Order: sequence, then structure tokens, then C-alpha cells
Amino acid sequence: TLGKPEMHHRGWIDLNKNGVKDAYEDPALPTETRVADLLARMSREERVGQLLQKLMTDTSDKKDAALVTSGQLGSFLGVAPDANLRNRLQRLAVEETRLGIPLIFGFDTIHGFRTTYPIPLGLSCSWDTTLVERLTAMAARESTVVGVDWTFAPMVDIARDPRWGRIAEGNGEDPYLGGLIAAASVRGFQGNDYGRPDRVVACLKHYVGYGAAEGGRDYNTTEIGLPTLRNIYLPPFRAGVEAGAGTLMAAFNSLNGVPASGNRFTLDQVLRREWGFGGFVVGDWESVGELVHHGYAADKAEAGVLSLTAGVDMEMVSECYRELPAMIDQKKIDSAVIDEAVRRILRVKFKKGLFDQPYTAPVEVDVAAHRALAREAVAASCVLLKNEGAVLPLGTRSIAIIGPFAEEQAELLGCWHALGNAKDVVSLHAGLKAAVKKGKFRVARGCPIIEPASAKEIDAAVKQAKKADVVILALGEPALWAGENNHRLDLGLPGAQQQLFDRIVATGKPVVTVLFAGRPLAIPAVLEKSAAVLMAWHPGIEAGHGVADVLTGKVAPTARLTTSFPRSVGQVPVHYNHLHTSRPFSDYKDGTREALLPFGFGLTYTTFTYGPTRFSRDTLAMGGAITISTTLTNTGKAAGTETAQLYLHDVACLQGARPVRELKGFQRVTLAPGESREVSFTLRADELGSWSPDGKWVVEPGRFEATIAPNAASGEMAAFALQP
Ligand code: GLC
Repeated sequence: TLGKPEMHHRGWIDLNKNGVKDAYEDPALPTETRVADLLARMSREERVGQLLQKLMTDTSDKKDAALVTSGQLGSFLGVAPDANLRNRLQRLAVEETRLGIPLIFGFDTIHGFRTTYPIPLGLSCSWDTTLVERLTAMAARESTVVGVDWTFAPMVDIARDPRWGRIAEGNGEDPYLGGLIAAASVRGFQGNDYGRPDRVVACLKHYVGYGAAEGGRDYNTTEIGLPTLRNIYLPPFRAGVEAGAGTLMAAFNSLNGVPASGNRFTLDQVLRREWGFGGFVVGDWESVGELVHHGYAADKAEAGVLSLTAGVDMEMVSECYRELPAMIDQKKIDSAVIDEAVRRILRVKFKKGLFDQPYTAPVEVDVAAHRALAREAVAASCVLLKNEGAVLPLGTRSIAIIGPFAEEQAELLGCWHALGNAKDVVSLHAGLKAAVKKGKFRVARGCPIIEPASAKEIDAAVKQAKKADVVILALGEPALWAGENNHRLDLGLPGAQQQLFDRIVATGKPVVTVLFAGRPLAIPAVLEKSAAVLMAWHPGIEAGHGVADVLTGKVAPTARLTTSFPRSVGQVPVHYNHLHTSRPFSDYKDGTREALLPFGFGLTYTTFTYGPTRFSRDTLAMGGAITISTTLTNTGKAAGTETAQLYLHDVACLQGARPVRELKGFQRVTLAPGESREVSFTLRADELGSWSPDGKWVVEPGRFEATIAPNAASGEMAAFALQP
């Protein structure tokens, strides 16, 4: 259990001298009325206080007490797993300040709170938005037990560079799928009313373009042309806003020379004027103060003015906003700008119910059900990359489990595991032992994850491998080689793992390689020489059970890659939705530009064939619709689920060339052996458009191509025309 908060009296509402509540204290009144009444009562210092957020520590109820009781703090982040501490801090704000404005408590619940599930990049490979919604709802529920009101998730940054460690936290390289997952995550975290005690306010991050960091180096410069910004990086945020996200987080990076946390174009023009976003924006950790590092603001006072004016309503940890009263006096900023930021924050606090129920309410958590859901998520996230000679599902009990991840627990939790506990993690060995009755297992580490190997240890692993019928080789990268500030120069296996791989393959035994990582890896040799390869990402506490479910066939793999796998780091970027070039025939002297594995790729325990792509018409009028279909057949011996993907290409687009392929839809179809079914998608003419540089959705008549295929590198494109 996560600790039961002491029950608290219903709140703090006291009656004023006329024996009635002040308007802002009256839950029967509309939020806007309550906000206006409260704002009018607030001093300038109390207004500025709402704009600042501090890190919560286990002594905050002492060292930060004065800040809270003087109304100079609006929020804490990093909620300690102690509802009573959180409630003590809340009591200081609610009962010992002049107006009793409650704090809002934020936390990074990224892929689970106590029940850690697969990292978001892994979960995105499920292509299952319902599963995403169930998992984020579970995480929200667990986090509210300790008093979390607000999660800094979902991270919806499009990432095209596997060197960038935060690719692990996002949903891959495609804006259409990324947008669906962003919306599903918002629905899961918030439900249809984030004021409920088991829901939290969502936070779309990191707005915007953070994943385009040059060189894959975290926090680095981003240069993004308007057509790409509009059609690749912004859409997942727009989808999350349309799903009702209560907040956004402004990013660290500079975007075309202007820091994202001071960028009026994205924060005000796009987010507020074009999208009508009504919540509030929090800066990332000290990102307001870092406007000075960027060489954009001259000093902290100016950074505060620029950031608030651009549209960052709350400052995380850096204290530039403390200078705002002086900036008003020096006429560097108008108090109306501050008031609007305060209104946005108060609105969310009212909607979260913090004024009416400021203290943590007890929420029941069904740990067993949560573990079962996490196990389901693991199996749904594992991508089968190869399965030669149907070595999977496992058909033998004589199994060697070799490699640094054979018995590993902690590194399987992933890069943002919150209260996930290594001792709760089911290792691969434990999972296989539970799944394969009377299994004869031989286990050897072979080498460490990153340190050099000893010949003796590798020899011992080889010896064990030779005694088994099949080898499960468990390799990968540590949890914190991905995630924030964890970028890599190389995308191969760390340490001596490739050496171990080569020695095990040399035994001639069939090798099933299971990869645990937070990013796509450049593993051409592993793919070539393994009999089977399963990409398991960093799967969380149910790792061993979920992976074993797939390896044994209890659950057939259905996952599909949401990010291209490069052959080498030299190819990066290698995403599928690239533009045509003037000379498409040009390629590297020493290799190909084609990805090792394309977006959308994944195998299962049967095979499928696709018929030709057919159209309901060859030409389409504006305002009309076209149905695109094909015949899908299960040509294997087992039932299976295929993710049929619809790709579109706009052959000529005056407002900016369009990608060679864009995912426009997908259907997960389960067929029995030998069964065929027509799969069809209907696209309306207005879905054939794209965002113009000035933010308008524009549909241009002309020639289009489309195909329904198993991944971004397959399927013949067929043409149709959109008439003016
Ligand atoms: C970090 C991360 C952000 C996180 C925030 C609070 O630096 O960039 O994703 O939500 O700070 O922990």
C-alpha cells in the first residue's frame, strides 16, 4: 500500500462576518465567478506567488513553510510518497494564509507510478489506444493515493533521432499515431473530469520541437522549417489540447533561435490564438532562467518578463518571476499579463477541486489487477523482428538463458519509473521458469551490461549454451542510457555484449535474442545471425512474465515499430516520413540509406498477404470521399492479428512538399488461418490536406497515391486524383 492519508475535515471553508462564504469559496458558483472574485482579493505578491513552483522535499513542511504561509508559492513538484506530508503542506496553504489558496502538486508519472509498465516508446508499439488509456488511468489512480494532483505527462515529442535518449519517453516518429496516443493518454490521466479524486491533470510536453535536437544531443538547438513544425511536431500537441489537456510544459530547446520557453509564436500565436488552449503552461525545470543561457535574455529579470509575456504561466524552480513586482514598477511588464497567468492557474486549481477538497482522499488500489494490466502491456509492446524457421513460440524445455539481462531486474524498470521498485520486477529467467513447466534452464550472465567481459565468464556462458536446445540471449542497454540527458554517439550493444553474441552464435545453437533498450538499436549483425529477435524495450515490473508470454506463444506478438531502426548511426535521421529529394537515386558510397527495419514493421506467429490496393473511384471531388481497400489473408497455420496501415502521398503540394508516405489510418485485424477479409478505409477530401506555414488546413487538388501495407516500406502505391 502507498500509505493511507489521515482523513481530513472536508476543507477549510469558513463563513465570513455575514455568515456566508466569500464567492470564491462557494462551489455552487461558476468557476469564472470564483476566479474573478478571488483575483480581485489578491495582492500583487499573492498573484506572483501563484506563478512559482518549488521542488518538494521531505522537509518542505519546515523549510518552505514561510514561503507557503506568506502566499508566495503556488505549487510543488516531485511529490514525496507520503500523503500526510503533502497534506501538511496543503494545510499551511489552505488554513494559514490570508485567502487559503491551495497548492497544486505535480509529479512525473510517465510510465506507471508504483506499477511500472513499458516505457512510452515501447507501449506506443502496441498501436492500442484503449490499452494506453487503461494504463494511464491506472497510473493516475495510484499517484493520487499519495496526493499527486497533476502529472507531467504525456510526453508527446516526435523523435526522429535514436541518439536522443528521450526518444524513450515519446510515441515514435509519426504525428498521426502520436496524436492518437497523446489524446488517449490525456483521457486516461484526466478521465472526463480531472476533478475526481482518482484522476490527475495531464501535461503535454515538451512544447515544442524538443526531439529535433541537433546531433541527438539533449537540450540542443533545433531548427525546424514551418511546414515540418506544423505537420510533424505540432500535431500531437494539438491532439492533446483537443482532448482537453489541462496544462502544457514549455521545452528547454531553442526553436529557430528563440527558446521554446520564451517563444511567443508557439506559446501565444499557435497555442492560444489558433488552438484556443484554456489551461496553463508550466516551464520545464529552470527553463525560464535558462533563457539567459540561450543568449536570449540579458538577465533573470528579463528572462521572467520575456517568458511570462510569451506565455509560460508558471515557473518551475528557477525564481525569475520573483522579480515581476519590480518589473511592473519599472514598467517592463503590465500587471494584466500577470493577472491572466494567475487566472489560468486558478481555473485549473478550481477544476481540480482543490478549493473544495484540498486534502488527499483515500483511493483504493487493486495491486493484483494493476500487475495483470502491466503484464498485458508488456506482451502488447514486444515487437517480433525476426523468426526464422519458426523457432518461436518456444518448442523445447531445454533452454539456456544467457546474457546480462537474463536475471536483471532494476534495469528493466526504464528511465522514469517513479515508485517502481526493482524488487518487484519479474526477471526474464523468473518469467520463463514460471511459464515453461518442467523447463530445464541453464543460466549464465556471460558479460556485464557495460563493463568489459572476462574470457572466463564468456567461456562459462558458451558452455551452458552448448548444453541446451535453444538459447535465449538477453541483451540491451541500461535504463538510464536512455531518458533525459542520456544521449549516445553509437547505437550498438554496449560493452562486450556483441562479443558475447558472436561467441554464442558460433555454438551453432538457435539463438533467440531478446533486446531490452530505451531506443532503436543499430543491430544488423544481431538481426542477421539470430534465429529470432524480440524487441522488449524497458518493460517494467512485469517484464519476465510478459516477455515469456510472447516467447511461449501464450500471447502472440502484435506490436509494430513506431520508430525506424537504423543500420548504423551514420544513417540518422532515417525516419519513414521523409521528403523526396531532387535525386532519389543518390545513396552512400559505403552503404544504403534504407532503414534496417521500417516504421510499422512487426511479425507475428502467422503470415499475412495483402492484395492490390483498390479505390472506390479514380477521381475524387472536393467535399467527396474515397474508399481505399485491399484483401488481407492469413496464409499461416495460426490465428493472428495484423495491423494494416494506410499510407498516403500528396504528389505535388505548393505550400510545402509532402512526405513520401504519411500514415493516415490503421486497423488491427484478427484472422483465423486461411481466412481472408476486405480491409477498407474511407478518406474524405478534406483529410488530404496539410497545415500551411500560417496554420491553415489547406487541401490542394491534384494527384495522390495510397497503399494499405504491413509497414512503411512495403506495398505498391496506387494513384487517384482530387479534382478542384
Ligand atoms: C525535467 C524534464 C521534464 C520533467 C521536469 C520535472 O527536467 O525535462 O520532462 O517533467 O523536469 O521533473
